[in-house]
Amino acid sequence: MTKDIIHQEKILILDFGSQYTQLIARRVRECMVYSEIHPFNTSLDYIKKFNPKGIILSGSPASVHDEEAPSIDHELLETGLPILGICYGMQLLVKLSGGEVEKSKDREFGKAQLLIDDSSDLFQGLNNNQATIQVWMSHGDRVNVLPPNFTTIAHSRNSPVAAIRTTNYPIFGVQFHPEVVHTPQGKHILENFLYKICGCKPLWNMKSFIDTSIEKIRLCAGNERVICGVSGGVDSTVVAVLLHKAIGKQLSCIFIDNGLLRKNEPEKVVDIFRKHLQIDIMHVDGADSFITKLSNITDPEKKRKIIGEEFIHLFEKEAEKLGDVKFLSQGTLYPDVIESISIKGPSATIKSHHNVGGLPERMKLKLIEPLRELFKDEVRAVGRELGIPEEIISRQPFPGPGLAVRIIGPVTTESLSLLREADAIVIEEIKKASFYNKVWQSFAVLLPVKTVGVMGDERTYENVIALRAVNSLDGMTADWVKLPHDLLSIISNRIINEVKGINRVVYDISSKPPSTIEWE
Ligand code: XMP
Repeated sequence: MTKDIIHQEKILILDFGSQYTQLIARRVRECMVYSEIHPFNTSLDYIKKFNPKGIILSGSPASVHDEEAPSIDHELLETGLPILGICYGMQLLVKLSGGEVEKSKDREFGKAQLLIDDSSDLFQGLNNNQATIQVWMSHGDRVNVLPPNFTTIAHSRNSPVAAIRTTNYPIFGVQFHPEVVHTPQGKHILENFLYKICGCKPLWNMKSFIDTSIEKIRLCAGNERVICGVSGGVDSTVVAVLLHKAIGKQLSCIFIDNGLLRKNEPEKVVDIFRKHLQIDIMHVDGADSFITKLSNITDPEKKRKIIGEEFIHLFEKEAEKLGDVKFLSQGTLYPDVIESISIKGPSATIKSHHNVGGLPERMKLKLIEPLRELFKDEVRAVGRELGIPEEIISRQPFPGPGLAVRIIGPVTTESLSLLREADAIVIEEIKKASFYNKVWQSFAVLLPVKTVGVMGDERTYENVIALRAVNSLDGMTADWVKLPHDLLSIISNRIINEVKGINRVVYDISSKPPSTIEWE
């Protein structure tokens, strides 16, 4: 049995609620060191058992002056473990160690020049010829009196104490955010912390992750049968390939075609699995039953519920044919896991869409979730390592209920066909113009309105297609993309000329919030 080397050295990130906490974890992993996020109030006992090589304290929307300011056990500072406090994390270190943090009404937000006073450890090797580097600031309060045993190792014009270190412990604090791209040398600073101060080695990589997961899956599944739902999306495909590598014929993949997929998608999924990945999948053509159940339904939540229930129904029916099944494998990712333990508590987000109505409980199945530790970009890296085609790896997110949430109004064979054709043109042209991988999502929406047009000498009265293209990091917020007018023009012309039943195309220029990405 190979040893679990990749988890041997880990960094613990204590979350005080900063919007950047996940980014810190991702950056640490980009430095090839495994990191986990836990709430700020994680007990000292747990931390000791977790046995990290170092700890990072995140930023926070709170102020250390707040009555209920989130804090840590003071004893943590005496464990001898290396600690890096970022923004609020640094202010907390100062407060707990007997220094003073000044309450400030003015926020310092944006790029700043950092003047390095001491480049012996955290700032080693940075711009040797220059005394300043660009950093990103985002804070209200600032440190004005250092605690005993602390020294300033960098300052900026607005923050006389912009980075600090203790003289007796490996404890550091930075007022700026090394994890964001606007601190161009932030990765170097984190590497100094991880490699030089914590003594970590770069062990976390996707090749080793695959080897370790395969062993874990084998151990967990034993000789039992495992089922896995596949959709053609990157997460479920990576899960299926990992499982297949680990347990081969003990795995059964079920692909339920709900009839709400994009043009030629079901054929492509089956082809990629059977021919390219050499994994047999059970292909269930459920289009008719989904569309029948959806007839005359206009409320998007009702559509979702019907689709979820029908999915479970068909999945169960198919699974029954397999006899005794003990495990269900699904593509839960690390952000879902963090969300449920985060200090903000489980929030009503994008992820709530993904739970398909308690399938494991109903079918009394135990879960295998091989991607629970991974961020999306890591899943893609694993997928590439496993030889999954780029077409799947870099596919834009596609909602589980498919085109049903992009048809405003009732879902019918006709409306699906109109949207499918228009959508295929959007994707084809967006790809041709090299925008497909530059945007988060780009798609067509079919509106339930008819407007007047003229084609040739004839008056038409037909449907409207709305185009939507957005950029986003995680689907929680999004900006509409300023696609070039030439591209919009080509898409519009093609849709109106080629899709019979559409005589008008409009472009959605709303951001989220206050709008959402899907129209529903
Ligand atoms: P909204 O429309 O809420 O979408 O701004 C945010 C992200 O979630 C996707 N989405 C869904 N995904 N089932 C899914 O699996 C759903 O019911 C669903 N609704 C929205 C959407 O495509 C976007 O990426």
